Amino acid sequence: MGQEKVAEVGSLEPGKMTQVKVDGQATLLANVDGNYYAIHNICTHKGCTLSKGRLNGNIVTCPCHGSQFDVTNGHVMHGPAQKPEQAYSVVVQDNDIIIET
Ligand code: FES
Repeated sequence: MGQEKVAEVGSLEPGKMTQVKVDGQATLLANVDGNYYAIHNICTHKGCTLSKGRLNGNIVTCPCHGSQFDVTNGHVMHGPAQKPEQAYSVVVQDNDIIIET
């Protein structure tokens, strides 16, 4: 299992999300109430970039057709998407936000 530092604590405010690269893959990193979560950033519906959508609590809404995913586990909360997003473990070590692949 690999580990990749993607950001530093404090660089992403609570309620915000951003795109980072993990293993060359577009990955969404979200801060939900001070906890960090990561899922694949490409919508399983038709491939739009989830981090360009909206984050409400732990739910990201795709900007294209409104699919909703839970950033804590990648589950589909609302269609049209049917397939979940891959979710990654995120750990914080000292000041570093690290995603495990
Ligand atoms: Fe995301 Fe269609 S591409 S909902």
